[in-house]
Amino acid sequence: ARLVILISGRGSNMLSIIQAIQEKHLDAQIAAVISNRPDAAGIVSAQQAGIDTQLLDHKSFESREAFDASLIQVIDRYQPDYVVLAGFMRILTAEFVAHYAGKLINIHPSLLPKFKGLHTHQRALEAGESEHGASVHFVTAELDDGPVILQAKVPVMADDSAETLAARVLEQEHMLYPAALKKLIDEAKANTP
Ligand code: GRF
Repeated sequence: ARLVILISGRGSNMLSIIQAIQEKHLDAQIAAVISNRPDAAGIVSAQQAGIDTQLLDHKSFESREAFDASLIQVIDRYQPDYVVLAGFMRILTAEFVAHYAGKLINIHPSLLPKFKGLHTHQRALEAGESEHGASVHFVTAELDDGPVILQAKVPVMADDSAETLAARVLEQEHMLYPAALKKLIDEAKANTP
């Protein structure tokens, strides 16, 4: 399967996918990594891994629609089977989401449908949750909605801060994202004659 990965920052989830491919746990190629932020650290990591990278700074577009239309053009050059959002911190238009229906995947740091949106770890602590985690899901037009592909759970400890909880969840994310992609790719193979 051909993947295009979209990032905005650190790119540790992207790196976990690169590593899973290198270690042959995942039968995929990363056609490109695209960032909407020129200063995303993950872009440097992707370049070091020899992957084609593209920058598309959302600030240089006059509207969300114009940015998303350009993003579609850049992505479609690579003809991906899946468009993988990995810490991509932009809300996408309904047009963009419809264009990649069934191919657009995201990782969200909560046990969806709980805690959609930002600051999930702090909110899980404030809600007194005993369990927290991460979800990989198909993207639909509603934020952090869409069918869940796979989830990973972690316990919440009595002395957790948002930071310690985030670190525990992130460790799981790094196994979860490659596993969820593998599930999709294996299912697609099983359905191809
Ligand atoms: C992850 O926690 C992801 O779930 C969230 O943003 C963070 C991105 O981290 N959406 P990274 O850029 O993959 O290191």
